[in-house]
Parts: sequence; structure tokens; C-alpha cells
Amino acid sequence: MADPFTSALVSDVVEKLTSKAIQEYGLLRGLKNDLSALENTFKLIKGVLYDAEMKQTTQKAVEEWLKTLKSASLEMENVLDEANTVAMIQRLHGEMGKKYKIRAFFSSRYNPVMVRFRIAHKVKNIRKKLEDINADRSKFDLTASNTTSKYDGGIGGEISERETTSLMPLVEIYGRDEEKKMIVDKICNQDIGITHDVRVYAIWGMGGIGKTTLAQYVYNHKTVQKHFEFKCWVYVSAVFDVKRIIKQIIKTICGPEDLKDLKLDEMSLDDLQIQLQNKLTGKKYLILMDDVWIENKDMIKWDELCKALRCGAKGSMAMVTTRKKDTAKLMAKIPELQRNVGKLSEEESWALFKMFAFPDRGERENLSSELELVGKKIVEKCNGLPLAVKTLGSLMLTKEKKVNEWQDVNDNFKWEQDDDIVLPVLRLSYNDLPPRMKICFAYCCVFSKGEEMSKDSLIELWIANGFIPSEGGMSSYVLGQKIFTFLVQRSFFQDVVEKDINTGVICKMHDLMHDLAQYVMGDDCAVIEPGKELIRSDEVLHLSLSCEDFELSKQDLKKLRSH
Ligand SMILES: Nc1ncnc2c1ncn2[C@@H]1O[C@H](COP(=O)(O)OP(=O)(O)OP(=O)(O)O)[C@@H](O)[C@H]1O
Ligand SMILES: [Mg+2]
Repeated sequence: MADPFTSALVSDVVEKLTSKAIQEYGLLRGLKNDLSALENTFKLIKGVLYDAEMKQTTQKAVEEWLKTLKSASLEMENVLDEANTVAMIQRLHGEMGKKYKIRAFFSSRYNPVMVRFRIAHKVKNIRKKLEDINADRSKFDLTASNTTSKYDGGIGGEISERETTSLMPLVEIYGRDEEKKMIVDKICNQDIGITHDVRVYAIWGMGGIGKTTLAQYVYNHKTVQKHFEFKCWVYVSAVFDVKRIIKQIIKTICGPEDLKDLKLDEMSLDDLQIQLQNKLTGKKYLILMDDVWIENKDMIKWDELCKALRCGAKGSMAMVTTRKKDTAKLMAKIPELQRNVGKLSEEESWALFKMFAFPDRGERENLSSELELVGKKIVEKCNGLPLAVKTLGSLMLTKEKKVNEWQDVNDNFKWEQDDDIVLPVLRLSYNDLPPRMKICFAYCCVFSKGEEMSKDSLIELWIANGFIPSEGGMSSYVLGQKIFTFLVQRSFFQDVVEKDINTGVICKMHDLMHDLAQYVMGDDCAVIEPGKELIRSDEVLHLSLSCEDFELSKQDLKKLRSH
């Protein structure tokens, strides 16, 4: 999929080309014809971008066309920025006096004639490229969208005025009655799995089916609270890093005072295992490891952790959630301690969907039968997957409650092909975002999976990257807040809480949403983490670096915009 940049970029370029400031760059004066031709072509292309973005999922050629357009738009934006900068410098030289003007005349970078020649050359090149791109447009039978105002980059008007806070109420769990009861009973029954060194209970099922949600319910259940002396939750994710897991458990056991003397980061695995053993000995613990991906070849890592976990009191339990049945079987040795989480039933899915699409109870209970019919067709597409149901419910919240508008969403599913990378439902919901919000959301792939994102830092990052345009005198921060609230409302962000006065509001992205963000950003975004130190393309625009010893070669990343 071409990234979300394209339509927002084109909007930016059109805005810059039509701005008054451009007339002021003397440098561009001789290029009036070229610039106005470029403006017209960009405008024509802009009109069909919504259609192109929808078609790119099924037509590779449209995807390639969008990529070429993005590259030309980036070049155009760079030229306009260059002209702006040079104009500023020239003004400055003028103000500083003759000496500086003369010095600039002999500099190849600032000599007005050379600069004008350089810029003119670039503009003509881009004009040629854009004409080719525009000619290709006809090959794809792209139709001009009548939804331009909505997809024009406007944000303010896009957000409903309905009073919402970013602190969403915790969602009620639909269905799962049998699972809830059974898991609590099993983990609190200390005679099950007693022959094993470390008792393990595994909850397994496909991504987004509700494993973490179920595990959270169990973890906080009254009976469980009473039964275990010590509880700890560790988010594991793709890399089973034994040292990190042990450190996190120790941090949960120790108070901040004890931790000061411990210097955990300097400890060897052996030291950490001994420390953990000391802390856990004789305690009846429940350690929940969320999102584990261990395979046969990684069992050595699991064994290392088990060495430290063996010392708990009778009845202690390690619980894992995993997408993989094999992982569940490897870790929880007996079927009695393995639980597969299945789909929600049609009724449960419909009830969950309605909760998001119609937060108002009165509206929910007085649905017209026609709307209910289309609504149920839409819910069917979610195949009992709660994440999908929630996402679609949130999407429908923003639509008018009219049968034809709902029918359009149902019809749009035909564009979405099933692939292994991103759930079609999530992509459909993403496609429906205005371009600016697409960028703001997709950019979040620079965070690690499961990482907490602070609302204020997010807004600052969006502003610093130029994703939030000025709109009707509204401050960028206020617009940023609106975008944040909208993305929460649409379920792109979840687990929104106000942590403390210093941190403020924080949220997370579901890992399948993270996959979506990463997918749409493609090579534009590179995330360098321990064990993942490769940049695949020199086209990278945004780089997130969390490896201390990674050497960044700026030479290779000429297009980098944020780091
Ligand atoms: N029974 C349910 N009722 C209501 N909402 C649910 C239910 N189960 C899950 N959800 C919602 O669906 C989303 C996905 O659930 P969850 O994160 O638990 O899935 P998961 O199976 O852990 O996915 P992954 O494999 O990607 O970790 C969450 O936003 C959660 O709030
Ligand atoms: Mg999960």
C-alpha cells in the first residue's frame, strides 16, 4: 500500500503553490508558467487521489503510480522549501550590508543567478515528471471524488462535536462467561499440573480475538486476588528476553527503595536468576506473560526463566497468552491447562458493535429494522473477532445513521483483500480517515509494539513533523488534541488513561493496529531495535533508533525528515 503521505503531501504542495508567499520569491518569478502548470496538474491529480488510494489495494499499478507521485511531490516540496530558505537568506544578506551581498555573489550556493538556474532546472524536471504521471492517470480509470472536502486534509470539521473525553470507559467484556469461570477455577486449583516444575496455563487464539482481555479479567478477579500472594504482569511480545522479564518481575516485587541498591541493569543472567529466586521463594505467585511467541528452538530461554521460577510455594502459576497453539502446548504441558479462545457469537458481536456505533442507549434501542439489517451484514464481515467489531463499530459512529451511507461501507469491503499482514477490516477503517489523520496514526509505528505513548509527546511529534496544518486560526496543539481524541474514538488508540500529573494522558496501540501502521508506512519509516538493526531502503523519511551501538550513516539517508 502506498503510504498515507501522498494525499496530504499533494495537499501541502497545492497549498504552497497557491500561497501568496510564493509570489514573493523573486527566484521563482521567471517560472510563472511552469508553476501554474504544476499547480493545475497537482490539483487534477488531487481530485482522484481518494479513488486511487482505494484501488491501490487491488491494483499493483495504481500503488506504483502513487509511489511515483509521492516521489515527485516530495521533490516539489523540497524545491519550494529551498526557494523559501534562499529567499530568506538573501533578505538577511541585504539587511547585513554590502559586504555580505558581495560574499554571497561569489558563493556557488547563494549566487542569485546560479540559485535561480538551479531551481529553474529542478522545477522544469518536476513539471516533466508530473506530466507523465498525469498522463498515466487516464490508464487507471480513476474517478474524481465528490468527497474532496472531506478528504482535503481538513480536520476540524471532521471531528464530531459530540462531547467525548480521551479517557474512554473500560469496555465491558462480551460473552466469554464459560471461559472466565473455567480459567479462574483451573488456575486456583493447585492440584492440577502439580507434577510439573512450574505450572503454566496458556490462553491461545488468533490475533485480536481477546486473549489479553480475558487474561486481564482473570488477573483482576477477586478469587485470584485472594488466592495468590504476589502477582506480576509482563508484556513479552516477539522477543523472549529472559533478562528483561526477570528484571520486570523483580521491579514489581521490590519497592523503589530496594531497587536503588540493586543495579539490575549491570547484573548478569546468573545474578538476576539468584535475585529473583530470593524474592520468590515460598511465595504463591501468579506471573502473567502476555503475547509469548516461544518455539521449540527457544525452549532454552524458557528453561532459563524456569530455573528462577521453580522456588514458588505450592499452587504458584505462570500464565501465558499466545497466538500459537504450538507455543501453548510447549509451555502448558497438559490440555487441562490450555484454553483456546474462539470467536464471539453473532449476537455477542452485534451487541458489541452496537455499543460502539450507538453509545447512546436510546438510539441503540430504537434502531430501524433497515439499518439493523445492513449493520448485521457489516458485523458478519468481522467473523466474530472483537477487535474488528470494535473498529467497525467506531467507524460507523462517525457515519450518518442512514441506510445508504452504511450500505456504502458494506460495499467498500470488496476493495479489501484478505492478506496475511493486515486485517481487511482495520484497513477499511484506516482508508476512511482523512489524509492528515492517516499520517498522524501511521507515524506512530515509530513506537515499539505495546509501548505507552504520551498524548502530549505525540501531539508535539505531529507538530514538529508538520503533519498538522494551520486551520481556521485554531492552534496546532488544539488541532492535535482533536486528532488524538478522534483516533481514540475510532479505536486506533486504546487503553487511554491519565497516569499521573507528570506523564498526563497515555495510550497504546493494539499490536494489529501497529502492524497496520507499519504496513502503510512501508519503507518510509525504519525502526531500529536490538535484534532488528537493518535499514532496507535509502528512502527512509522517519527513523526511530533504540540501539545504543547503531551507527547511523546520514549519507545513505538523504531524505530523512525526522530522527
Ligand atoms: N469479549 C470482548 N468483549 C469486548 N471487547 C473485547 C472482547 N475481547 C476483546 N475485546 C477488545 O478487542 C480488542 C482485541 O482484544 P485483545 O487485545 O484482548 O486481543 P488479543 O487476542 O490479545 O490480540 P493479540 O494476539 O494481537 O495480542 C481489544 O481492544 C479489546 O478491548
Ligand atoms: Mg494480546
